[in-house]
Amino acid sequence: MVSYPYLLLAFCFTVSLAQPFKTVNLGNWLVTEGWMDPSRFDGITNKDLLDGTRVQLKSTKLQKYLRAENGGGTSLLGDSSIPSDWETFRLWRINDTYFNLRVLNKQFVGLETQGNKLVAVSNAAGGPETFHIIRNTDDPNRVRFQALNGLFLQAQSETSVTADYAGNATVWEDSDPSVFIITIVGTLQGEYQITNGYGPDKAPQVLREHWNTYITSEDFKFLSSNNIDGVRIPVGWWIVHDPTPPKPFVGGSLQALDNAFTWAEQYGMKVIVDLHAAQGSQNGNEHSATRDGFQEWGDSYTPDTVAVIDFLAARYANRKGFTAIALLNEPMAPGITLDTLTKYYQAGYEAVRKYTQTAYVILSNRLGPADPTELLSFASTLNRVVIDVHYYNLFWDGFTKMTAQQNIDFIYNSRSNDLRKVTIENGPLSYVGEWTAEWYVQGASTEDYQNFAKAQLEVFGRATFGWAYWAYRCVVPHWSLRWNIENNIIHL
Ligand SMILES: *[C@@H]1O[C@H](CO)[C@@H](O)[C@H](O)[C@H]1NC(C)=O
Ligand SMILES: *[C@@H]1O[C@H](CO)[C@@H](O)[C@H](O)[C@H]1NC(C)=O
Repeated sequence: MVSYPYLLLAFCFTVSLAQPFKTVNLGNWLVTEGWMDPSRFDGITNKDLLDGTRVQLKSTKLQKYLRAENGGGTSLLGDSSIPSDWETFRLWRINDTYFNLRVLNKQFVGLETQGNKLVAVSNAAGGPETFHIIRNTDDPNRVRFQALNGLFLQAQSETSVTADYAGNATVWEDSDPSVFIITIVGTLQGEYQITNGYGPDKAPQVLREHWNTYITSEDFKFLSSNNIDGVRIPVGWWIVHDPTPPKPFVGGSLQALDNAFTWAEQYGMKVIVDLHAAQGSQNGNEHSATRDGFQEWGDSYTPDTVAVIDFLAARYANRKGFTAIALLNEPMAPGITLDTLTKYYQAGYEAVRKYTQTAYVILSNRLGPADPTELLSFASTLNRVVIDVHYYNLFWDGFTKMTAQQNIDFIYNSRSNDLRKVTIENGPLSYVGEWTAEWYVQGASTEDYQNFAKAQLEVFGRATFGWAYWAYRCVVPHWSLRWNIENNIIHL
């Protein structure tokens, strides 16, 4: 029998290493989010026409918008006065100047099988769906679309949109039926956009340079000396195919992740690997590496996604720094059903447990219309699992009207209550895997920011697994933990 003082010592030792963990997200490192550093896109030709850019096209002659009748599946018309979903086209970029246009119902705009009439019927994009976009150098919002037959798209009348204009394409008169005004109504700047935007010749070099410089060993030194226990690292599904992932993705992020483990271990820090971008996109956001914003992850993608988890668990299970793996960041309801998600979580959990009994498995709550406690009973049947919730005082209109003090009160009251609901006894641990000191308040004082951060540190400090700040680096100052620490907003 071991002596009581020894047990006590062992207990203290365990407690000193245990959660709750203070961690930070290494966002925009291995999965691109353009808003966090837009300059990374500066070297791309036509950088405003990336994959997933949503555009509306107005005929200068008719003063009407192009419209996919019924949102797709039939004709393309030129008769719309008020642009909305049916008038919005998502770009797929072939190269700097050639594109496909995808409509609401997911078909591609193209030439009909026999003839020059424009339709939106094909579910795949080939030659008839490919257009050369030519911009007016004096006004790049004036464009022409040239089909591969060499002729230009024209709106001759509201019911006749064809690709048969052979006129002089250097003249940009309003009366010309082949001239359109392009209006950008939505953009994406994720990993798909940056890699496909730079293209196969430039992207590998640009991305590798980014991975090697954006996060280095010095950052782990900084974090550990500022009492951060670990890092949550967003990764994308293509990492499983390193060094030759499917195009446009680029190999090398696996080496960067290996480096992160080495640096973390050097400074006694934890690593939480977070599958942030699943094939097919689990939420349609740029940080899921979607091509065009459609959310398509589901049952058919589950086996491949489990294989990514299996690969990561196998590779890192015996690394000292390996603390947890998050199976899927921010799956979105209602597109992703609870049934699909729990089946995937069960399979992902089992994949991890093939290699380690001790690593935590993190289950992200669904975003959108979903009950935040919906995973608790399922999670209670598993060992060493964590429910991940993301708490921002952003992305909801209600926050735009709040004062600094109201935001702070919201943390102490509403968020505190939300967190209590997902922090249960004999169940999964809780993790506030994303939060930030940024808010909608204009002209807030340093003290306001300090109080807002302090409230969150206090309340989120009650999460039983811990929290993770979003993010470590960001050009928008208050989103950057490093900036907040260096400017005395956050003190740990
Ligand atoms: C861009 O793609 C189009 C259509 O596939 C092709 O005809 C053209 O040669 C490509 N341009 C470049 C520069 O690769
Ligand atoms: C097209 O228009 C430009 C400018 O008016 C003119 O210089 C050029 O000769 C025209 N080309 C043809 C093929 O008509």
